[in-house]
Amino acid sequence: MVKHLLAIDDVKDDFERILKWAIEFKRLWKQGDEVALNFVPLDTMAIGSIYEKPSTRTRVSFEVGVQRLGGSALTLLKNDIQLGKSETIGDTSHVLSRFLGGMTYRCFAHEDVEELAEHAEVPVINALSAKHHPCQAAADLMTVMEHHDDTEGLTVAWVGDGNNVLHDLMLACAMLGIDVRYACPEGYEPDEDVVERTMAYAKANGSSVMHTTDPVEAVAGAHVVYTDVFISMGEEHMKDKMSAFDGYQVNEEMVGHMDEKWSFMHCLPAHRGEEVTDWVMDHKQSIVFDQAENRMWAQMSLMTYLINEGAWDAMGEFMGLESS
Ligand code: CP
Ligand code: NVA
Repeated sequence: MVKHLLAIDDVKDDFERILKWAIEFKRLWKQGDEVALNFVPLDTMAIGSIYEKPSTRTRVSFEVGVQRLGGSALTLLKNDIQLGKSETIGDTSHVLSRFLGGMTYRCFAHEDVEELAEHAEVPVINALSAKHHPCQAAADLMTVMEHHDDTEGLTVAWVGDGNNVLHDLMLACAMLGIDVRYACPEGYEPDEDVVERTMAYAKANGSSVMHTTDPVEAVAGAHVVYTDVFISMGEEHMKDKMSAFDGYQVNEEMVGHMDEKWSFMHCLPAHRGEEVTDWVMDHKQSIVFDQAENRMWAQMSLMTYLINEGAWDAMGEFMGLESS
Protein backbone atom coordinates (compact mmCIF):
# COMPACT_ATOMS: atom_id res chain seq x y z
CA MET A 1 0.00 0.00 0.00
CA VAL A 2 1.22 3.50 -0.85
CA LYS A 3 2.14 5.53 2.24
CA HIS A 4 1.47 9.27 2.37
CA LEU A 5 2.42 12.00 4.85
CA LEU A 6 -0.42 14.49 5.16
CA ALA A 7 -0.18 15.10 8.93
CA ILE A 8 2.67 14.07 11.22
CA ASP A 9 0.66 11.33 12.93
CA ASP A 10 0.51 9.47 9.61
CA VAL A 11 3.98 8.19 10.62
CA LYS A 12 3.25 7.77 14.32
CA ASP A 13 4.34 4.12 14.46
CA ASP A 14 7.88 4.88 13.27
CA PHE A 15 8.25 8.54 14.21
CA GLU A 16 11.01 8.20 16.78
CA ARG A 17 13.05 5.96 14.48
CA ILE A 18 12.55 8.37 11.56
CA LEU A 19 14.06 11.14 13.71
CA LYS A 20 16.93 9.03 15.04
CA TRP A 21 17.66 7.89 11.48
CA ALA A 22 17.83 11.54 10.36
CA ILE A 23 20.14 12.52 13.24
CA GLU A 24 22.51 9.62 12.67
CA PHE A 25 22.49 9.92 8.87
CA LYS A 26 23.30 13.65 9.15
CA ARG A 27 26.20 12.86 11.47
CA LEU A 28 27.62 10.15 9.20
CA TRP A 29 27.14 12.23 6.05
CA LYS A 30 28.93 15.23 7.61
CA GLN A 31 31.86 13.13 8.71
CA GLY A 32 32.22 11.83 5.14
CA ASP A 33 31.12 8.25 5.76
CA GLU A 34 31.29 6.42 2.41
CA VAL A 35 28.12 4.38 3.03
CA ALA A 36 26.08 7.50 3.79
CA LEU A 37 27.59 9.46 0.90
CA ASN A 38 26.82 6.64 -1.53
CA PHE A 39 23.31 5.97 -0.25
CA VAL A 40 21.01 6.54 -3.22
CA PRO A 41 17.54 5.12 -2.40
CA LEU A 42 15.93 7.45 -4.97
CA ASP A 43 18.31 6.41 -7.76
CA THR A 44 16.73 7.06 -11.21
CA MET A 45 13.60 8.51 -9.58
CA ALA A 46 12.17 11.97 -10.08
CA ILE A 47 10.37 13.65 -7.19
CA GLY A 48 7.96 16.43 -8.16
CA SER A 49 7.07 19.31 -5.85
CA ILE A 50 3.99 21.44 -6.53
CA TYR A 51 3.86 24.91 -4.95
CA GLU A 52 0.79 27.13 -4.69
CA LYS A 53 2.56 29.41 -2.21
CA PRO A 54 6.10 30.77 -1.95
CA SER A 55 8.81 28.85 -0.13
CA THR A 56 12.51 29.14 0.66
CA ARG A 57 13.28 26.35 3.15
CA THR A 58 10.87 23.70 1.87
CA ARG A 59 11.81 24.17 -1.76
CA VAL A 60 15.57 24.22 -1.28
CA SER A 61 15.61 21.45 1.32
CA PHE A 62 13.57 19.14 -0.92
CA GLU A 63 15.59 19.92 -4.04
CA VAL A 64 18.95 19.39 -2.33
CA GLY A 65 17.74 16.42 -0.24
CA VAL A 66 16.38 14.59 -3.29
CA GLN A 67 19.67 15.13 -5.16
CA ARG A 68 21.68 13.82 -2.20
CA LEU A 69 19.54 10.66 -2.22
CA GLY A 70 20.33 10.06 -5.88
CA GLY A 71 17.06 11.33 -7.32
CA SER A 72 16.19 14.32 -9.44
CA ALA A 73 13.96 17.09 -8.16
CA LEU A 74 11.30 18.79 -10.27
CA THR A 75 9.74 21.98 -8.93
CA LEU A 76 6.28 22.59 -10.38
CA LEU A 77 4.91 26.06 -9.71
CA LYS A 78 1.12 26.18 -9.76
CA ASN A 79 0.94 28.93 -12.37
CA ASP A 80 3.10 26.91 -14.75
CA ILE A 81 1.09 23.68 -14.68
CA GLN A 82 -2.50 22.78 -15.61
CA LEU A 83 -3.56 21.95 -12.03
CA GLY A 84 -6.63 23.90 -10.96
CA LYS A 85 -7.01 25.66 -14.31
CA SER A 86 -7.83 23.10 -16.93
CA GLU A 87 -7.26 19.87 -14.98
CA THR A 88 -8.60 18.41 -11.75
CA ILE A 89 -6.34 17.49 -8.85
CA GLY A 90 -7.28 13.84 -9.36
CA ASP A 91 -6.30 13.76 -13.04
CA THR A 92 -3.06 15.62 -12.30
CA SER A 93 -2.30 13.07 -9.62
CA HIS A 94 -2.83 10.11 -11.95
CA VAL A 95 -0.63 11.68 -14.62
CA LEU A 96 2.19 12.63 -12.26
CA SER A 97 2.12 9.13 -10.73
CA ARG A 98 3.14 7.75 -14.14
CA PHE A 99 6.36 9.79 -14.11
CA LEU A 100 7.35 10.37 -10.52
CA GLY A 101 8.54 8.30 -7.57
CA GLY A 102 6.89 10.72 -5.13
CA MET A 103 5.20 14.10 -4.95
CA THR A 104 5.21 16.95 -2.49
CA TYR A 105 2.45 19.56 -2.45
CA ARG A 106 2.27 22.98 -0.77
CA CYS A 107 -1.33 24.13 -0.97
CA PHE A 108 -3.92 26.36 0.63
CA ALA A 109 -6.81 23.98 1.45
CA HIS A 110 -5.78 20.80 3.28
CA GLU A 111 -8.50 18.95 1.34
CA ASP A 112 -6.46 19.54 -1.83
CA VAL A 113 -3.44 17.56 -0.62
CA GLU A 114 -5.85 14.87 0.62
CA GLU A 115 -7.35 14.73 -2.87
CA LEU A 116 -3.94 14.51 -4.53
CA ALA A 117 -3.07 11.59 -2.23
CA GLU A 118 -6.40 9.87 -2.78
CA HIS A 119 -5.64 9.55 -6.52
CA ALA A 120 -1.87 9.02 -6.28
CA GLU A 121 -0.09 5.78 -7.01
CA VAL A 122 3.11 7.10 -5.37
CA PRO A 123 3.71 8.66 -1.93
CA VAL A 124 2.43 12.22 -1.42
CA ILE A 125 4.05 14.49 1.17
CA ASN A 126 2.25 17.56 2.48
CA ALA A 127 4.75 20.41 2.13
CA LEU A 128 2.41 22.73 4.11
CA SER A 129 -1.32 23.20 3.92
CA ALA A 130 -3.47 25.62 5.89
CA LYS A 131 -3.98 22.84 8.46
CA HIS A 132 -0.75 20.83 8.66
CA HIS A 133 3.01 21.20 8.21
CA PRO A 134 4.34 17.71 9.04
CA CYS A 135 7.82 18.13 7.53
CA GLN A 136 8.35 21.12 9.80
CA ALA A 137 7.37 19.10 12.87
CA ALA A 138 9.75 16.29 11.93
CA ALA A 139 12.63 18.77 11.60
CA ASP A 140 11.58 20.49 14.83
CA LEU A 141 11.52 17.35 16.95
CA MET A 142 14.79 16.21 15.37
CA THR A 143 16.26 19.55 16.48
CA VAL A 144 14.82 19.20 19.99
CA MET A 145 16.36 15.71 20.23
CA GLU A 146 19.75 17.00 19.05
CA HIS A 147 19.76 19.78 21.63
CA HIS A 148 18.40 17.77 24.56
CA ASP A 149 19.94 14.38 25.36
CA ASP A 150 16.78 13.25 27.08
CA THR A 151 13.28 14.33 26.07
CA GLU A 152 11.90 12.91 29.33
CA GLY A 153 10.54 15.75 31.46
CA LEU A 154 10.89 18.30 28.66
CA THR A 155 8.25 21.00 28.22
CA VAL A 156 7.66 22.71 24.88
CA ALA A 157 5.63 25.93 25.00
CA TRP A 158 3.92 27.52 22.02
CA VAL A 159 3.07 31.22 22.10
CA GLY A 160 1.01 32.51 19.20
CA ASP A 161 -1.58 31.51 16.64
CA GLY A 162 -3.26 28.09 16.72
CA ASN A 163 -2.06 27.37 13.20
CA ASN A 164 -0.70 24.65 10.91
CA VAL A 165 2.74 24.64 12.55
CA LEU A 166 1.29 24.29 16.06
CA HIS A 167 -0.97 21.44 14.91
CA ASP A 168 1.88 19.17 13.88
CA LEU A 169 4.19 20.36 16.66
CA MET A 170 1.68 19.44 19.37
CA LEU A 171 0.92 16.09 17.74
CA ALA A 172 4.63 15.35 17.40
CA CYS A 173 5.43 16.30 21.01
CA ALA A 174 2.61 14.13 22.34
CA MET A 175 3.70 11.24 20.10
CA LEU A 176 7.12 11.39 21.81
CA GLY A 177 5.75 11.90 25.33
CA ILE A 178 6.93 15.52 25.57
CA ASP A 179 4.76 17.90 27.65
CA VAL A 180 3.22 20.63 25.56
CA ARG A 181 1.61 23.91 26.60
CA TYR A 182 0.10 26.35 24.14
CA ALA A 183 -0.87 29.95 24.68
CA CYS A 184 -3.27 31.08 21.97
CA PRO A 185 -5.71 34.00 22.23
CA GLU A 186 -9.45 33.30 22.29
CA GLY A 187 -10.69 32.59 18.80
CA TYR A 188 -7.26 31.48 17.57
CA GLU A 189 -6.98 28.09 19.26
CA PRO A 190 -5.87 24.99 17.35
CA ASP A 191 -8.55 22.87 15.65
CA GLU A 192 -10.54 20.69 18.01
CA ASP A 193 -9.85 17.43 16.13
CA VAL A 194 -6.09 18.04 16.36
CA VAL A 195 -6.37 18.79 20.10
CA GLU A 196 -8.28 15.53 20.59
CA ARG A 197 -5.66 13.52 18.70
CA THR A 198 -2.90 15.22 20.69
CA MET A 199 -4.65 14.42 23.99
CA ALA A 200 -4.98 10.78 22.99
CA TYR A 201 -1.24 10.46 22.15
CA ALA A 202 -0.25 12.31 25.33
CA LYS A 203 -2.43 10.01 27.43
CA ALA A 204 -0.92 6.93 25.80
CA ASN A 205 2.61 8.27 26.39
CA GLY A 206 2.09 9.67 29.87
CA SER A 207 2.65 13.34 28.98
CA SER A 208 0.51 16.43 29.40
CA VAL A 209 -1.18 19.03 27.20
CA MET A 210 -2.19 22.44 28.52
CA HIS A 211 -4.01 25.36 26.92
CA THR A 212 -3.93 28.89 28.29
CA THR A 213 -4.48 32.40 26.99
CA ASP A 214 -1.59 33.63 29.20
CA PRO A 215 1.82 33.37 27.44
CA VAL A 216 3.69 33.69 30.75
CA GLU A 217 1.78 30.72 32.19
CA ALA A 218 2.73 28.71 29.09
CA VAL A 219 6.45 29.50 29.21
CA ALA A 220 7.01 29.43 33.00
CA GLY A 221 9.82 26.90 33.62
CA ALA A 222 9.53 25.54 30.05
CA HIS A 223 12.61 24.36 28.15
CA VAL A 224 11.57 25.34 24.63
CA VAL A 225 9.48 28.28 23.42
CA TYR A 226 8.18 28.23 19.86
CA THR A 227 6.36 30.90 17.92
CA ASP A 228 5.36 31.62 14.31
CA VAL A 229 3.94 34.54 12.37
CA PHE A 230 0.54 35.74 13.60
CA ILE A 231 -0.78 35.99 10.04
CA SER A 232 -0.09 32.95 7.87
CA MET A 233 0.08 32.70 4.09
CA GLY A 234 -3.43 33.07 2.71
CA GLU A 235 -4.55 35.24 5.65
CA GLU A 236 -3.00 38.49 4.42
CA HIS A 237 -6.49 40.08 4.29
CA MET A 238 -6.97 39.41 8.06
CA LYS A 239 -4.88 42.34 9.35
CA ASP A 240 -7.36 42.87 12.23
CA LYS A 241 -6.14 39.58 13.65
CA MET A 242 -2.91 41.26 14.84
CA SER A 243 -4.54 43.03 17.80
CA ALA A 244 -5.46 39.67 19.37
CA PHE A 245 -1.74 38.99 19.85
CA ASP A 246 -0.88 41.93 22.09
CA GLY A 247 1.42 40.51 24.79
CA TYR A 248 2.29 37.45 22.70
CA GLN A 249 5.69 38.65 21.46
CA VAL A 250 8.57 36.37 22.49
CA ASN A 251 11.08 38.82 23.96
CA GLU A 252 13.77 39.04 26.63
CA GLU A 253 11.22 39.50 29.41
CA MET A 254 9.21 36.47 28.32
CA VAL A 255 12.16 34.08 28.11
CA GLY A 256 13.16 35.29 31.59
CA HIS A 257 10.30 33.13 32.93
CA MET A 258 11.72 29.99 31.35
CA ASP A 259 14.21 27.37 32.45
CA GLU A 260 17.67 28.96 32.22
CA LYS A 261 18.62 26.48 29.47
CA TRP A 262 15.70 27.70 27.31
CA SER A 263 15.78 27.29 23.54
CA PHE A 264 13.92 29.47 21.08
CA MET A 265 12.33 27.90 18.01
CA HIS A 266 10.58 29.32 14.94
CA CYS A 267 9.73 27.61 11.66
CA LEU A 268 10.75 30.78 9.77
CA PRO A 269 10.24 33.04 7.95
CA ALA A 270 10.10 35.28 11.04
CA HIS A 271 8.60 38.75 11.21
CA ARG A 272 11.22 40.30 13.46
CA GLY A 273 9.72 42.89 15.78
CA GLU A 274 6.26 41.27 15.62
CA GLU A 275 6.09 37.76 17.12
CA VAL A 276 9.77 37.80 18.20
CA THR A 277 12.45 40.38 18.92
CA ASP A 278 15.94 40.50 17.40
CA TRP A 279 17.33 39.89 20.89
CA VAL A 280 15.68 36.46 21.07
CA MET A 281 16.15 35.52 17.38
CA ASP A 282 19.87 36.29 17.50
CA HIS A 283 20.50 34.87 20.98
CA LYS A 284 22.92 31.93 21.26
CA GLN A 285 20.02 29.87 22.66
CA SER A 286 18.00 30.44 19.49
CA ILE A 287 18.10 27.24 17.42
CA VAL A 288 16.09 28.48 14.45
CA PHE A 289 18.80 27.90 11.83
CA ASP A 290 19.41 24.34 13.06
CA GLN A 291 15.69 23.79 12.56
CA ALA A 292 15.93 25.17 9.03
CA GLU A 293 18.88 22.91 8.15
CA ASN A 294 17.16 19.90 9.69
CA ARG A 295 14.26 20.28 7.27
CA MET A 296 16.54 18.59 4.73
CA TRP A 297 17.81 15.74 6.94
CA ALA A 298 14.36 14.97 8.35
CA GLN A 299 12.83 14.97 4.87
CA MET A 300 15.62 12.69 3.60
CA SER A 301 14.65 10.20 6.28
CA LEU A 302 10.93 10.65 5.55
CA MET A 303 11.32 10.33 1.78
CA THR A 304 13.41 7.18 2.10
CA TYR A 305 10.92 5.74 4.60
CA LEU A 306 7.91 6.49 2.41
CA ILE A 307 9.40 5.71 -0.99
CA ASN A 308 12.00 2.97 -0.37
CA GLU A 309 11.36 1.41 3.03
CA GLY A 310 13.74 -1.49 2.32
CA ALA A 311 16.65 0.93 1.89
CA TRP A 312 15.50 2.92 4.93
CA ASP A 313 15.50 -0.25 7.08
CA ALA A 314 18.87 -1.39 5.75
CA MET A 315 20.45 1.99 6.48
CA GLY A 316 18.78 2.00 9.91
CA GLU A 317 20.39 -1.36 10.66
CA PHE A 318 23.76 -0.11 9.40
CA MET A 319 23.44 2.85 11.77
CA GLY A 320 22.60 0.50 14.64
CA LEU A 321 19.06 1.74 15.17
CA GLU A 322 16.66 -0.62 16.85
CA SER A 323 13.73 -1.52 14.62
CA SER A 324 10.49 0.11 15.67
N1 CP B 1 9.31 26.89 7.33
C1 CP B 1 8.99 26.84 6.04
O1 CP B 1 8.20 26.01 5.59
O2 CP B 1 9.61 27.78 5.28
P1 CP B 1 9.35 28.10 3.75
O3 CP B 1 7.98 28.75 3.67
O4 CP B 1 10.43 29.05 3.36
O5 CP B 1 9.37 26.83 2.98
N1 NVA C 1 2.09 29.41 9.57
C1 NVA C 1 2.94 29.81 8.46
C2 NVA C 1 4.09 28.88 8.33
C3 NVA C 1 5.07 29.24 7.24
C4 NVA C 1 6.18 28.24 7.11
C5 NVA C 1 2.13 29.85 7.19
O1 NVA C 1 1.33 28.94 6.95
O2 NVA C 1 2.27 30.83 6.44
